[in-house]
Amino acid sequence: MVANGRIANHFLGMICGIFFAAAFSGAVFAQDSVRRGQQLWSQKAGCPFCHGWAGDGHGDEHADGAAANIRETILTRDQIQEVIKCGRPGSSMPRFDKFAYTDRRCFGMTAEELGKDVPSEPPAPLQIFEVDAIADYVAAKLKDAGPVTKEECLEFFGGVGAACDKYPPKG
Ligand code: HEC
Repeated sequence: MVANGRIANHFLGMICGIFFAAAFSGAVFAQDSVRRGQQLWSQKAGCPFCHGWAGDGHGDEHADGAAANIRETILTRDQIQEVIKCGRPGSSMPRFDKFAYTDRRCFGMTAEELGKDVPSEPPAPLQIFEVDAIADYVAAKLKDAGPVTKEECLEFFGGVGAACDKYPPKG
């Protein structure tokens, strides 16, 4: 009985360990995706050109100024993912999936059917795993983030930039 008890304990410990490891690596993986998403957001995808680095809609002066304030979006993470992948027909939000309108993966439509409303192609199309990472970043860090703060700005730009002084401190 004692030996059995010990073995049972041992197994219990092992099972807990496996669960813990799985949960932990899941959390690390998610964090990793958010970090990669931030890099893609600012570099390869160039989202800040239209949406501003903080996603508040204050993009480059040469952008058309119609970009949404993503901090106030009511979209879910998966809806955000779809907008990045498919773009918004009839607006300047580009499609980041190269094949968005070739095989009806977006809204069941082809580019031909959408005609002039077809979202434009971005300078650098993304792979789906990159779209996923950006969606994770937008949902975790920008959605519901409230007003932009100085701390957020310093974190985004790696602690440099007097430009961050124009934002109020947190709290
Ligand atoms: C060329 C300008 C432009 C670029 C680049 C751009 N967007 Fe947009 N985005 C827009 C515009 C304009 C809208 C508003 C579309 C509309 O009127 O429905 C929008 C809307 C969105 C929305 C929907 C918000 C909502 O609540 O409806 C999301 C999410 C979004 N963009 C994310 C991104 C991400 C992420 C990137 C980079 C991968 C990006 N955008 C790049 C112009 C742009």
